[in-house]
Amino acid sequence: MTALDLSSPVAVVGTGTMGQGIAQVALVAGHDVRLFDSMPGRAQAAADAIGGRLDRLVEKDRMTAADRDAARSRLHAAKSLAELADCSLVVEAVLERLDVKQKLLRDLEAVVDDDCLLATNTSSLSVTAIGGVLRNPGRFVGLHFFNPAPLLPLVEVVSGFATDVTSATRAYEMARAWGKTPVACADTPGFIVNRLARPFYAEAFAAYEAQSADPATIDAVLRECGGFRMGAFELTDLIGQDVNEAVTHSVWQAFFQDVRFTPSLAQRRLVESGRLGRKTGQGWYDYGDDAERAEPHTAEQAQAPAYVVAEGDLGPASDLLALIREAGVPVREDEEDHGTRLVLPGGGQLVLADGQTSVEFRDVVYFDLALDYRRATRIALSASQDTQPQTLSEAIGLFQALGKDVSVLGDTPGMIVARTVARIVDLAHDAVAKGVATEEDVDTAMRLGVNYPLGPFEWSRRLGRSWAHEILDELHQRDPSGRYAPSLALYRHAYATDKREGTP
Ligand SMILES: NC(=O)c1ccc[n+]([C@@H]2O[C@H](COP(=O)([O-])OP(=O)(O)OC[C@H]3O[C@@H](n4cnc5c(N)ncnc54)[C@H](O)[C@@H]3O)[C@@H](O)[C@H]2O)c1
Repeated sequence: MTALDLSSPVAVVGTGTMGQGIAQVALVAGHDVRLFDSMPGRAQAAADAIGGRLDRLVEKDRMTAADRDAARSRLHAAKSLAELADCSLVVEAVLERLDVKQKLLRDLEAVVDDDCLLATNTSSLSVTAIGGVLRNPGRFVGLHFFNPAPLLPLVEVVSGFATDVTSATRAYEMARAWGKTPVACADTPGFIVNRLARPFYAEAFAAYEAQSADPATIDAVLRECGGFRMGAFELTDLIGQDVNEAVTHSVWQAFFQDVRFTPSLAQRRLVESGRLGRKTGQGWYDYGDDAERAEPHTAEQAQAPAYVVAEGDLGPASDLLALIREAGVPVREDEEDHGTRLVLPGGGQLVLADGQTSVEFRDVVYFDLALDYRRATRIALSASQDTQPQTLSEAIGLFQALGKDVSVLGDTPGMIVARTVARIVDLAHDAVAKGVATEEDVDTAMRLGVNYPLGPFEWSRRLGRSWAHEILDELHQRDPSGRYAPSLALYRHAYATDKREGTP
């Protein structure tokens, strides 16, 4: 089964934000495109809006005037569903309501040919449930585009319980022929991206609720230390707090209120207060004309320690030793393996976030996981009331000597980046073990769908086989709600090569 022939007309029903974007993609690929919307006049308005966007592409020299004219002549607003009868593919992008989508699909099935592929752009409903009303649910597939569809390459091709393999393959090949990067996934709550991205928001909001730091500081740590393009607070202000919360809520509900997906109370209050983000002028941040830009907390200049003693293997942070030496701070390596830590001249310890809290130890400062310690411009530290001031000051001075800004958080087990990455890695292993998608497609989806600097499996390989499991195991002991409970899949992955002696 191959992609749709370009001579086959394609229809898009529901011509709002997503419908227009998908129609533009199909049009530019070369199809005749029919638009239909239940609101009178909307389909024509959408055709005009798409025409305007093509004009801008011509102005920017990204399309020739001749191609624009040809595309416009292939675009038609339909006044009834009957006008879609000869289409080979219909993509619905109507209101996100199960009853509305089901009724539309039943009506469509009565109009189109038996071999017409029917698709939904739903982001949160079950593809199986929508298609369940069809006489032939095998022809129905999820085609989840991302906004703005003409620009973002990722398309999740979702197979419902009854979707035929041939329909999914056809949809996949078609997305590829349209210049997109399709990934195949099973019909599970949130599909790949919206399922695996939940901890990115949840862990940032949880750190804020726990008074570890304010939004600007947490965002700066995610960006400048974690290598994420945007922090969770600024990103949800851009998406819309109501939209982001609705996705979280629907994934949590669809997983029968699985505690790993519990929504954030702080975000709930934000939505209740009408602070929905940029679109209302206020969200986590203030966007008013005279609003002051919120700055992250950055530690005052402190003296670099005279030397550090490195004990054991620093694992994902082992690059630090070279950086410390390059900064002129002598590193004494202790042959005896007391643990994996840096010991400061005052006797305090500097340890990579491992899921334990600093209150458990006499004098420890934790530092967060960085995507790349050389390129990171900020490092977060976590200390408790029991941490000696000299230890904190030496730790701050050490990272400042490496050219980093330092943000000091309250005692935060797993810090910000480390626990976020550990949870995303865990959900990724869990999803693949449950047949949601392949490792490769999961990595592609997270890099292209939400711009993560690395896919979860790439990250996992870099951090070491048991890293995520160990940190989550520690967090789970301190918060036994189940939120951090590592999955069986992650456990298997961590210990697959670490066979125990003896009989079970
Ligand atoms: N906006 C996003 O970022 C995004 C991203 C991915 C997927 N989605 C999904 O795409 C779909 C559309 O979202 P949107 O943001 O474009 O919505 P939208 O509100 O911008 O557009 C929906 C359009 O559907 C029309 N409509 C409603 N009921 C209809 C019916 N029965 N028949 C024909 N037309 C009907 C409305 O008049 C409106 O023009 C939803 O399922 C949504 O979950 C949205």
